[in-house]
Amino acid sequence: MSPTLERRQTGSLDLSAHDLSMCFERTVGRERVLTQALQDVSFRVRAQEFVSVIGPSGCGKSTIVRIAAGLQRPTGGALRIGPNEVTGPGRETATVFQSPGLLPWRTVLDNVALPLEVAGIGKRDRAARAAEYVELVGLSGFSGHYPRELSGGMQQRVGLARALAVRPQVLLMDEPFGNLDAISRQRMQDELLRIWEHMKTTVVFITHAIDEAILLSDRVLVMGRGVVRAEVDIELPRPRSRRMLLSDERTLELMSRLEDLLGDADGTPA
Ligand SMILES: Nc1ncnc2c1ncn2[C@@H]1O[C@H](COP(=O)(O)OP(=O)(O)OP(=O)(O)O)[C@@H](O)[C@H]1O
Ligand SMILES: [Mg+2]
Repeated sequence: MSPTLERRQTGSLDLSAHDLSMCFERTVGRERVLTQALQDVSFRVRAQEFVSVIGPSGCGKSTIVRIAAGLQRPTGGALRIGPNEVTGPGRETATVFQSPGLLPWRTVLDNVALPLEVAGIGKRDRAARAAEYVELVGLSGFSGHYPRELSGGMQQRVGLARALAVRPQVLLMDEPFGNLDAISRQRMQDELLRIWEHMKTTVVFITHAIDEAILLSDRVLVMGRGVVRAEVDIELPRPRSRRMLLSDERTLELMSRLEDLLGDADGTPA
């Protein structure tokens, strides 16, 4: 962590959903099919808070991310970043998806610099800033590499650096480590913990993995189909480490509580 990075980090904002609804309409043959992906969902993620969202497949997690990123307009209610309603893609948020979507013809450095280029930052400044974030995610020796020359975990690090380089006030992560093998996944979780504990950006983190949610989060939202069923505070000390959590009996309690809530949310017996 370089001191310049800490000094230059801008503040973070809260994110709040107010009776958020999303109804998708499709035409199948002659019929109109409606899918209520979200129904009057309300929650708040405080500035600098790390909140995970877990829930069964299809319950609306990615829909929340897409609305927060300004990629989709809700059919009801509002999502606010700070005091402002999100009405389209903005500079306040950056998103890391399951697949990093790197441009194959650009080097690591140039991939990280891309959103800075789009934001109109001059060539020298953006190269310096991109290098800073490439270093932050532990890839300084790979700046000149192309995505095809990197492992899946390394590519995901580039995706994380690219998102962080715009210094978002809210970082949205939609199953960012879902495609990684178990060891790469653990390393990325450790990296993310280290980076977040320094930067304290507001994070909304979507995951299927209960242990990942407990390790990383201040709070976990448990979703059922289209709704937030429960909120669970993760009152474990920080800075956290996997080893520390394994020897803390509260971890087991939290795991079984979240398992139960997820079972209920799924409609299947816990
Ligand atoms: N563009 C769309 N058109 C129609 N239906 C959609 C569209 N996008 C999502 N849906 C539906 O909305 C619901 C919620 O989808 P969403 O992608 O938010 O789920 P998810 O919780 O992220 O699932 P997963 O864990 O599998 O990623 C699903 O039933 C899905 O089929
Ligand atoms: Mg999803």
